[in-house]
Amino acid sequence: MRNLAEKENNEKSMVSIRHLYKSYGNGISTTRALYNINLEVERGEILAIVGESGSGKTTLLNLIGGLDVCEEGEIYLDGELLDLGNDKAMAECRRESIGYVFEKIQLIPGLNVLENILLPVRLRGGAIEKKQLTTFLKRLEVFQMRREPLRRLSAEERQKVAVARALVNIPKLVLADEPTGNLNSRSGDYVLDLLIQYCRDYGQTLILATHNRAYARLADRCVEIKDGRISAPAS
Ligand SMILES: Nc1ncnc2c1ncn2[C@@H]1O[C@H](COP(=O)(O)OP(=O)(O)OP(=O)(O)O)[C@@H](O)[C@H]1O
Ligand SMILES: [Mg+2]
Repeated sequence: MRNLAEKENNEKSMVSIRHLYKSYGNGISTTRALYNINLEVERGEILAIVGESGSGKTTLLNLIGGLDVCEEGEIYLDGELLDLGNDKAMAECRRESIGYVFEKIQLIPGLNVLENILLPVRLRGGAIEKKQLTTFLKRLEVFQMRREPLRRLSAEERQKVAVARALVNIPKLVLADEPTGNLNSRSGDYVLDLLIQYCRDYGQTLILATHNRAYARLADRCVEIKDGRISAPAS
């Protein structure tokens, strides 16, 4: 039976992860990607998860975002236990509550900038008032390029589009997987600052996965993931 302290934590946190295990493979050759992950992320917190390549960052974010399933464990989002194996429920949860900046950006080449950014709004069956949209696009520095096809954009501009797409539905949780991985350090710093400042201003919870320890300093808190285990805070 769950104890009272755990229950209170689940209700207090934006994300509460309990005893999460994830392996890839078929039993003959199995990779243990996550091992007994326990993690609390407070509402409005900017948390950096730092780890080397292959440490399990993407796997963890994909589980929180419902893009993959695990063998064991529980994840609570804003006090609600996620139905991790239920694709339909998780798709709805993503649409309503989670914004994702993917490691490989994953914009849609056939759509222009604005169409890409508005995709989550369309999927949700919603709309944004014009003035509000203009303010949003200007704030994220994608207003001028809104009619452009993606092929005309620089790497930094594409990343800004990916950030805007993740934020457009005002999700309570933002997951950013190496959001600067495709950029040089100057552009990377710039776009990350844009993302973090936005989340701070709007009180959104941000989980940022990165191999770059320097970025951890921009977060409120940092944990390190190593061989699929959360270890002591990175220094
Ligand atoms: N689809 C998959 N099939 C098999 N093994 C996988 C798969 N995805 C990840 N892994 C393995 O799980 C472990 C964690 O991988 P993961 O991609 O989560 O790490 P990461 O920290 O995001 O790495 P990177 O910094 O390179 O993006 C690694 O050993 C990786 O090889
Ligand atoms: Mg990764």
